[in-house]
Amino acid sequence: MGEYLEPLLTLKPYDLKNSLEAQEILDVVNEYYSKSPWLPTKEKIMAASVVYFRAFNNGKQIGITGYSLKTPTLAETIKTTIFKEFRGLKLGKYLSQAIEDECQRIGVKKVMSTVYYFNHVMVQIKLKQGYSIEGYHPDHEAPGYHEYSLGKVLK
Ligand SMILES: CC(C)(COP(=O)(O)OP(=O)(O)OC[C@H]1O[C@@H](n2cnc3c(N)ncnc32)[C@H](O)[C@@H]1OP(=O)(O)O)[C@@H](O)C(=O)NCCC(=O)NCCS
Repeated sequence: MGEYLEPLLTLKPYDLKNSLEAQEILDVVNEYYSKSPWLPTKEKIMAASVVYFRAFNNGKQIGITGYSLKTPTLAETIKTTIFKEFRGLKLGKYLSQAIEDECQRIGVKKVMSTVYYFNHVMVQIKLKQGYSIEGYHPDHEAPGYHEYSLGKVLK
């Protein structure tokens, strides 16, 4: 059996001042988060409270991810998404790791994420990466939208 090589993921920040790039994020969010009761508007994306990245593997964009700084040392990672055609290839777990690494690179000491209770794939990715369930929030974003909050202190 050949040696398994971890996929190399590269994150490139979106230019949120560019309306076309903000629209691209909005299109991804509309496509993949249609179950969410509250989607960001283009104006909100351009206000740049979230830093968004394109994620590349072997020169192809395979998804997006982002973070929001809650304090100078606490980041919430947001919208970690693998495009449908690239799912099931373990890229989701490497993308989760890549955004955590990016947060650590800029000096963040703790990362957290809120995940819908039905999103077993992301919950188990985070648990395997050393996150703990720090909270369960019933009816959080809206009635029926229960969420876990998962956190990890970075060493
Ligand atoms: C969550 C998401 C990023 C996972 O991406 P992915 O590349 O398909 O996931 P991976 O291939 O890395 O799989 C990670 C693990 O989940 C398992 N898995 C993948 N799809 C699964 C499924 N449908 N059901 C159960 N397990 C699954 C894999 O076997 C792997 O398990 P392992 O730990 O034993 O290796 C992707 O489904 C997605 O973009 N979803 C929509 C956006 C979203 O919900 N993002 C999270 C917001 S908080």
